[in-house]
Amino acid sequence: MFQTLKDHLAIVADRRIEDICDAERAADFSVQTGDLVLDYAKTNIDPHARDMLIDLLTSTGVAEKREAMFTGKPINETEGRAVLHTALRNLDGAPVMVDGQDVMPEVLATLDRMSDFAEAVRDGSFKGQGGKITDVVNIGIGGSDLGPAMAVRALSPYHDGPRCHFVSNVDPADIAEVLRSCDPATTLVIVASKTFTTIETMTNARTAKAWMGESVSDPAAQFCALSTSAEKTSAFGIPGDRVFGFEDWVGGRYSMWGPIGLSLMIAIGPDAFRAFLRGGQAMDTHFRAADWHENMPALLALVGIWHNQVCGYATRAVLPYDNRLGRLPAYLQQLEMESNGKRVSIDGADLPYDSGPVVWGEPGTNGQHAFYQLIHQGTRVIPCEFMVAARGHEEELHHQHQLLIANCLAQSEALMRGRSLDEAREIMAAKGLTGDELDRQARHRVFPGNRPSVTLVYPTLDPFTLGQIIALYEHRVFVEGAILGLNSYDQWGVELGKELATALQPVVEGNAGTEGKDGSTAALVEYLRRNGA
Ligand code: F6P
Repeated sequence: MFQTLKDHLAIVADRRIEDICDAERAADFSVQTGDLVLDYAKTNIDPHARDMLIDLLTSTGVAEKREAMFTGKPINETEGRAVLHTALRNLDGAPVMVDGQDVMPEVLATLDRMSDFAEAVRDGSFKGQGGKITDVVNIGIGGSDLGPAMAVRALSPYHDGPRCHFVSNVDPADIAEVLRSCDPATTLVIVASKTFTTIETMTNARTAKAWMGESVSDPAAQFCALSTSAEKTSAFGIPGDRVFGFEDWVGGRYSMWGPIGLSLMIAIGPDAFRAFLRGGQAMDTHFRAADWHENMPALLALVGIWHNQVCGYATRAVLPYDNRLGRLPAYLQQLEMESNGKRVSIDGADLPYDSGPVVWGEPGTNGQHAFYQLIHQGTRVIPCEFMVAARGHEEELHHQHQLLIANCLAQSEALMRGRSLDEAREIMAAKGLTGDELDRQARHRVFPGNRPSVTLVYPTLDPFTLGQIIALYEHRVFVEGAILGLNSYDQWGVELGKELATALQPVVEGNAGTEGKDGSTAALVEYLRRNGA
């Protein structure tokens, strides 16, 4: 499928991006929706390559697949489910049909119930047994943690509700440290689990209930649940009026727009939460309507396909120059790698090309003083995705924000331009070096350059903008998955480890032997048991 693109790459591979990156290209290879601008001019994609990439959208039926998603067809074929997180931000309530039923009345009613509850927690009309809620502890993992944890941090300037904490790991260190900082009599525990069976979450939920039960007479009264299973939440002792349900057509890693976002709503308030939803909805409208040449999620996906499947770059770095987006790389890791980390196509055949890339990253400028060395001078090319706001929230420190912007732009420029051996020799000569020593030292100071990046810029990180950014990445994942012909909405790859962990638990506890285990696992269990496990 990618051969003609690879043939084209072979012709242009040695071309310097900086040689084609003029003002005209900057306009042609950037796209705007609302106030959000994506610049992809610092890539080696030329108009011909872009046309061929856009042809891929047609030949793989992306428009039809997009319509199937938005209209509730069961595109998650291995689980027989629709994929309708977009309905959660469909604030106008236009009908969305699943199995002949409009899901919107229920979605909007749940949003209203969440808003009432969030307001009650925020204004103190919902109380803990010791008074107004001071702390909210969200217990969840994966999609039931990463979204709200990322967004609460991202939107901290809008945070005027109680403190929010996130517990995800079954490692007791996680919950112990959080609970230590909370007063059980004024803490609200949110058990966030789509299935309400996830072992880490249920273990932590029981620990939190026991902790609360030591101090208050009715611990369940300070619990609420976010789940698709009313039966299981009720069995845990949480009454229906504090259960916020959703349907199985909301995937875990796409779920922060609905009940799983309750902690975010309590933190920033229902109005700001709705602004976040409106940002997502604006991106949906753009994604559905814009021509492919102007379609931001589609173009970002095509840049991804070009770098991963055509150029063979196995990873991509997400580098927000926005400290509050510190959890965004982790969030995108789940979104992208759990969605498109698949080895077979929808029909079960082996994928004849690589699946989605490894996604990783850290906020700039911190990363510059850690791993950028490898990005600039390592032997592998790592496409980078920069993002930065025009203005920070710290108006009085705007000069620092300007320095942040300068760093962000300098990195993409340095990656593109690099520094030649001649330039490096000149620098060394100016320092007085000569002969072999000059040569040797200069070689260490060469930057190959020609390393691609894209940059996303926005006025300021507010709830609406965050909604746009998250929906942009969701649709990017959709388009990449649609082109690759895989199911972006299941996650069978997490199952085997869960099964083996359940089987190993009694072995670790000493209630079963290591018979049948491989030598390495048996030896590790024995070491850990000898040392106190
Ligand atoms: O194990 C993977 C996974 O199923 C994710 O897809 C999901 O986000 C996470 O576990 C948590 O699941 P749940 O919300 O059902 O507890």
